[in-house]
Amino acid sequence: MSPLETVTVTRFVTPLREGGSLPGVVEGDDLGTYVCKFRGAGQGPRVLVAEVVVGELARAIGLDAPRQVVLDLSSEIARYEADEEVQDLLTASTGLNLGSDFLPGSFGYDGQTGIESAVAGRVVWLDAFCANVDRSWRNPNLLLWNGALWVIDHGASLYFHHAWPGGVGDPARFAAQPWDPADHVLVGRAGDLAAVDAELTALVTPELLAEVVALVPDAFLDPVPGAGTPEELRAAYVAFLVARLGTRQWLPA
Ligand SMILES: Nc1ncnc2c1ncn2[C@@H]1O[C@H](COP(=O)(O)OP(=O)(O)OP(=O)(O)O)[C@@H](O)[C@H]1O
Ligand SMILES: [Mg+2]
Repeated sequence: MSPLETVTVTRFVTPLREGGSLPGVVEGDDLGTYVCKFRGAGQGPRVLVAEVVVGELARAIGLDAPRQVVLDLSSEIARYEADEEVQDLLTASTGLNLGSDFLPGSFGYDGQTGIESAVAGRVVWLDAFCANVDRSWRNPNLLLWNGALWVIDHGASLYFHHAWPGGVGDPARFAAQPWDPADHVLVGRAGDLAAVDAELTALVTPELLAEVVALVPDAFLDPVPGAGTPEELRAAYVAFLVARLGTRQWLPA
């Protein structure tokens, strides 16, 4: 896997007010348009780690997920922003942030449109494995674009890391944590999850998980007691994910 490209933000276009974390649309010096998730947003940089890991894992298992880049934001961009709330967020986020390709003309999945069971099954498997709680009827975080279903917004996955301020915990606990499919918008369309699991088990190896975690930029990896360096933090993420891969308590029957 090649590292995420770094793009310099040239313009802040607009905040996406429907997003709880106030993401924004920005333009980059590569002439691309991106949805930016800010390092300085209330939930902190850990949600960006989850976005990188789960978004790239989604792509690796054949789902459509927007390409992700690292967005370099200068204090100049913040200084010229008129909206005070946005200006504060930009100021708190100068430096590296996370971007995903903006999908122009996409619309939110309504829960009604038919989705291939192979795609729905992979989305459910991914969310179960990564403990994503943000794919409900109320908030599907799925976009329809170019005739395909795109997964977005994985910041609420891998919630184990929110307990890390006290130090990295026990991977076995996360590995054994069940996942509740009741609210999931695609669970009724997922078909035979055991078959999906058999297929993905061959693809999602400890090596793949390490490759995906390696894509997380140092800037998103805040030190915690016992894991002070980016390398130690990446090793902790890999340990948690590999432990979970060794169980199936999380897979809905
Ligand atoms: N790559 C994209 N292309 C087009 N639109 C997008 C993209 N990413 C996000 N959006 C739009 O912006 C909204 C907010 O984005 P997202 O869900 O990622 O943010 P959030 O702050 O994490 O949201 P939430 O309120 O679910 O916590 C999405 O519901 C979608 O409408
Ligand atoms: Mg969302």
